[in-house]
Amino acid sequence: MEILKQIDDLKFISAIKPEEGKLVYDFVIEQKPRFIIETGMGKSTLYWLAGINQSRLACHLTSVDLCEEDGDHNYDNRMHSTGDAIKSIFDEDFIKNFLWQPIKMDSIKFIKKIPDHLHLDVFMHDSKHTIEHLRQELHAIEIFKPEWFLCHDCIHDFAKINFSQEWFKKRWKHYKQARHLAIFKRK
Ligand SMILES: C[S@@+](CC[C@H](N)C(=O)[O-])C[C@H]1O[C@@H](n2cnc3c(N)ncnc32)[C@H](O)[C@@H]1O
Repeated sequence: MEILKQIDDLKFISAIKPEEGKLVYDFVIEQKPRFIIETGMGKSTLYWLAGINQSRLACHLTSVDLCEEDGDHNYDNRMHSTGDAIKSIFDEDFIKNFLWQPIKMDSIKFIKKIPDHLHLDVFMHDSKHTIEHLRQELHAIEIFKPEWFLCHDCIHDFAKINFSQEWFKKRWKHYKQARHLAIFKRK
């Protein structure tokens, strides 16, 4: 819990909030995923790693981020700030052995480059919050049939438009939620 408190207290622009971070952390402990991809790195990355650290899982986490200005937002260099936070929070042994891969790239370009045979358990969207970008990520990731889909910040704005569509409803059912972070499970 000490680690969660340290992450909660970090100041990152537009990052997930403590209740949402706790949902991510508990999810890792309960579901024991082996391969996670998240788009948009930052505090979410730290909560994923906290869950992996706590459960001593051999779990691959790939975090994709442009790490540059995104329209009106300046997210600093997310890769550096996330890397610095990792070094200050986790012990050396964990860092030496964890399976975290940060990728500096547009999320959709990255998903399209992943080999078809990858076994992906979890996909989390928290990158560019436009309906079109979310739609493209979701469609691109479908080839891997992840069992879980986590969606941050799009829930309220996009709920009516996206998540009520037949395409989405056929594949995903709502599982849990904290504030603006929802977890969906494959039907
Ligand atoms: C709202 S922040 C959330 C980051 C992280 N999940 C957190 O909890 O701190 C959104 C991130 O998405 C990144 N981003 C924006 N457009 C992107 C794109 N097309 N591909 C990948 N990342 C993108 C931004 O650089 C920013 O770091």
